[in-house]
Amino acid sequence: MKLCAVLLLFIFRNCSGEDFPSLITANASIAVVLDRQFLGENYQSILDDLKDYIKELTRVELKNGGVNVHYFSWTAISLKKGFLAVLSIASCEETWSLYTRNKEEELLLFALTEVDCPRLPTDSAVTVTFTEPGQELAQLLLDLRTQRAFNWKSVVILHDNTLARDMISRVVQALTSQVDDDDVTSVSVTVFKMKHEVNEYLRRKEVYRVLSKLPVKYIGENFIAIVSTDVMNTMAETVRDLAMSHTGAQWLYIISDTNTNGNISNLINDLYEGENIAYFFNATDDGKECKNGLLCYAQEMISAFVLALETAIQEEFDVAAQVSDEEWEAIRPSKLQRRDALLKHMQQHLSSKSRCGNCSSWQALAADTWGTTYRDSTNENISKENVTTSVIEDVKLINVGIWRPIDGIKFEDVLFPHVEHGFRGKELPIITYHNPPWTILQLNASGSIVSYSGLLFDIVNQLAKSKNFTIRIILPGHLNHNITNDTNEAAIDMTYSVSSTLILTAIAKGHAAFAAAAFTVITDSKPGINYTIPVTTQPYSFIIARPRELSRAVLFLLPFTTDTWLCLGFAVILMGPTLYIVHRLSPYYDAMEITREGGLSTIHNCLWYIYGALLQQGGMYLPRADSGRLVVGTWWIVVLVVVTTYSGNLVAFLTFPKLEIPITTISELLESKTYTWSITKGSFLEMQLKNSDESKYIDLLKRAELTDGTNVVEGNVVSGLDILNRVRRQRHALIDWKLRLSYFMRAEHVKSDTCDFTLSTEDFMDEQVAMIVPSGSPYLPIINKEINRMQKAGLISKWLSAYLPKRDRCWKTSSVEEVNNHTVNISDMQGSFFVLFLGIISASTILLMEWFYMRRKKRIEQIIIKPYIE
Ligand SMILES: *[C@@H]1O[C@H](CO)[C@@H](O)[C@H](O)[C@H]1NC(C)=O
Ligand SMILES: *[C@@H]1O[C@H](CO)[C@@H](O)[C@H](O)[C@H]1NC(C)=O
Ligand SMILES: *[C@@H]1O[C@H](CO)[C@@H](O)[C@H](O)[C@H]1NC(C)=O
Ligand SMILES: *[C@@H]1O[C@H](CO)[C@@H](O)[C@H](O)[C@H]1NC(C)=O
Ligand SMILES: *[C@@H]1O[C@H](CO)[C@@H](O)[C@H](O)[C@H]1NC(C)=O
Ligand SMILES: *[C@@H]1O[C@H](CO)[C@@H](O)[C@H](O)[C@H]1NC(C)=O
Ligand SMILES: *[C@@H]1O[C@H](CO)[C@@H](O)[C@H](O)[C@H]1NC(C)=O
Ligand SMILES: *[C@@H]1O[C@H](CO)[C@@H](O)[C@H](O)[C@H]1NC(C)=O
Ligand SMILES: *[C@@H]1O[C@H](CO)[C@@H](O)[C@H](O)[C@H]1NC(C)=O
Ligand SMILES: *[C@@H]1O[C@H](CO)[C@@H](O)[C@H](O)[C@H]1NC(C)=O
Ligand SMILES: *[C@@H]1O[C@H](CO)[C@@H](O)[C@H](O)[C@H]1NC(C)=O
Repeated sequence: MKLCAVLLLFIFRNCSGEDFPSLITANASIAVVLDRQFLGENYQSILDDLKDYIKELTRVELKNGGVNVHYFSWTAISLKKGFLAVLSIASCEETWSLYTRNKEEELLLFALTEVDCPRLPTDSAVTVTFTEPGQELAQLLLDLRTQRAFNWKSVVILHDNTLARDMISRVVQALTSQVDDDDVTSVSVTVFKMKHEVNEYLRRKEVYRVLSKLPVKYIGENFIAIVSTDVMNTMAETVRDLAMSHTGAQWLYIISDTNTNGNISNLINDLYEGENIAYFFNATDDGKECKNGLLCYAQEMISAFVLALETAIQEEFDVAAQVSDEEWEAIRPSKLQRRDALLKHMQQHLSSKSRCGNCSSWQALAADTWGTTYRDSTNENISKENVTTSVIEDVKLINVGIWRPIDGIKFEDVLFPHVEHGFRGKELPIITYHNPPWTILQLNASGSIVSYSGLLFDIVNQLAKSKNFTIRIILPGHLNHNITNDTNEAAIDMTYSVSSTLILTAIAKGHAAFAAAAFTVITDSKPGINYTIPVTTQPYSFIIARPRELSRAVLFLLPFTTDTWLCLGFAVILMGPTLYIVHRLSPYYDAMEITREGGLSTIHNCLWYIYGALLQQGGMYLPRADSGRLVVGTWWIVVLVVVTTYSGNLVAFLTFPKLEIPITTISELLESKTYTWSITKGSFLEMQLKNSDESKYIDLLKRAELTDGTNVVEGNVVSGLDILNRVRRQRHALIDWKLRLSYFMRAEHVKSDTCDFTLSTEDFMDEQVAMIVPSGSPYLPIINKEINRMQKAGLISKWLSAYLPKRDRCWKTSSVEEVNNHTVNISDMQGSFFVLFLGIISASTILLMEWFYMRRKKRIEQIIIKPYIE
């Protein structure tokens, strides 16, 4: 407490160490600068009056000390003489130059200057702009601009006769002039004048004529209308008819011929959802007790200063009595602290006690229109048919502030609350239903929503954050199904869901701000709704059964194609006779007198020899003639090549199982004669295919089976299994959203732990998914803009990927996984056993035939011999 007091004291206390006199030890000195050029002939009288006033004031008010006043008649003075404060009465230019010259001195400057002057920074000076009543409009706009009530690059000024000719140029000057503040940029101004018509009809025509031709595309959508009350009313209606008052436009009406105390309830009836409208009313009161004039302001400022000084000195004395001199030294305030404290005192005093020019004042109102018309309807029974939703009375006018010549605009709120603060934290009703992965609701036992998530709620939450609203979920009708946590419900086709139909109806009636539900963008949509820009785009795709391995029964035949096998067979068959002929015709044996015995002397033997050589068994005999040997030798080379190729290939076939050729594109599907496929009846896809004129798609639809959406029972994927089983077992393809199919695949994989399906590689026919808003909702552009921003930032795809099924092993396109560890099993070997079996069978058959042959031969011999014996 004590320290506080010490600090306070120090703010106003000057120490001997500083070059600035202490308030206790020395009287404060102030400079009063009266610019003779600015005041002209009034100079002397004002100077005399002011001198008397200050003398009297210090005598009455200053109890603990005094103040030394130095008078100057020009502004080009040096102020390094230890002044505490400066009062200046000078032109705008001189005031600013005085300010900039003495910026380093940290003086307290209170300036009285002419109208249309940008005020000095409020953290180091007090500026009063003196004006005759009725001339303050330009100053008002200048103050609006310098106090950054709006942040516009361009503005359209619409005015009628209330704005005199010279005032127009001052207004334009006020908006375009250069200001010594970096943050205040000049605004480009377009001015349109309209005649003031007394007749209502003519006025309407005139306003329409001007407004309808405004090239808003080029001149922007920020408007200042400086008009009289009746023109404002006409204008507000016309603006609405021309759809120029929307969330992206800002309208500031400056009404000079009114008295705020008049009827503002009329205004409210003219306001609609989603507009940005602010008003400035002329609240000037022409009462008799109005004071005005330069001297009045000067006296008021001096008196405010003296009172602040007196408070400061008093506090210094109080604290100085409580601390030692050392403490005093240690914590003495800087010049800057003292100035700031004095300034604060003065400003407080002026804003509460000021009388001069208090008659001319303007009141600013802002319309709080966003998110208002839904409020009351939300408590009503949504399922009831005739709910009245338009609760326009909820629109409020917010008191933004008051403008006075002495201290500019005192803001209590922002001029355009919705531009600055979006929905101002209002609660918006948002209708939704459970439809993963777009919207995922979790209910507790009593059926109320515990939490919500899903892609659309990620988007809506982001929207709520940037546009400053809170979410209240409403559900369409009664929840007639149990919400489960099963993500497999992504299978629900929104076209069929009862909920989505209810939502469409509710939105069309405007029961909610918008629907956080995924809808397919179709061109001939239900009336009464508008789509937002697509949130995501979902391609169509199809699944088929995973390609199976081909049977390995005849694996030993696979290394060669049929042609090769045939050639090889012919070669064996031809080589036997060839060898025989060459062997037979060779004169070598005759010449050397060797008999051609055994071995290759019969064609039959030759055949077996060639065959044996093929299997690398080698014959017992070789031809002795070189001709025959060449035949055998070249055959051996052929055998070498054939056998090596065969065994190498066989190993490869053993290791890499051979798969069916999968169908991965629509064209392949159409070409394959064996496949059938199904499409959900009435789906977006069917519609698109119907409208398509590509022969591929026409064919696709013609040969498709249309399932009547049986796999889509609200809340449950029941009979979707039938079709999945069909896909699994038969040659059938299911065409649907890629997303939904991957959910199916994931669910089936989890259930059976096998990968039975494969997704086509080709996507086709993108389907756009969007949210819906009531038709004509003013917030559609805002929502679209935000969604667009989220898309560009990559947020939406990031969010969506979090809801997609995890990539599991089934995502791999082929089953090469078994490769590394393939051990040869019986199914690989069965072919060779089969051959062995065949060989034994045929050997047995031949054996039997040989037997019969022998028996017959014997019998014939006997028959022939018998008669001979007899
Ligand atoms: C301060 O001013 C008062 C009255 O104006 C005077 O009596 C007093 O002597 C002055 N003190 C100093 C230190 O100048
Ligand atoms: C404001 O209203 C007063 C009295 O109603 C009038 O004298 C003054 O001219 C008006 N101000 C402007 C800028 O029209
Ligand atoms: C405001 O205008 C409405 C209708 O125009 C009227 O009923 C009401 O009495 C007026 N209120 C005041 C304070 O003038
Ligand atoms: C202006 O000041 C006078 C007293 O000087 C007061 O009666 C009047 O109500 C004030 N007017 C406004 C609009 O504050
Ligand atoms: C809504 O209306 C239905 C019948 O129209 C009624 O049964 C139900 O109780 C109502 N619910 C509420 C909350 O009013
Ligand atoms: C609602 O509609 C029914 C008929 O559809 C009608 O009888 C009833 O008066 C209406 N209620 C309201 C409040 O409009
Ligand atoms: C949201 O609106 C409230 C009420 O106007 C306001 O106080 C707050 O600053 C706003 N928040 C944002 C982030 O604009
Ligand atoms: C919802 O679940 C409850 C119990 O879990 C069950 O009794 C009720 O039949 C279910 N309702 C529907 C429509 O499935
Ligand atoms: C859904 O999941 C939550 C937690 O993840 C659990 O508390 C709740 O019981 C689940 N509901 C159902 C119907 O399975
Ligand atoms: C909104 O929908 C209506 C028809 O329901 C249509 O006429 C209008 O152009 C749509 N608005 C936008 C911005 O798409
Ligand atoms: C091969 O199989 C053995 C035993 O079945 C197993 O331990 C090993 O990890 C497998 N290797 C590969 C590459 O799959």
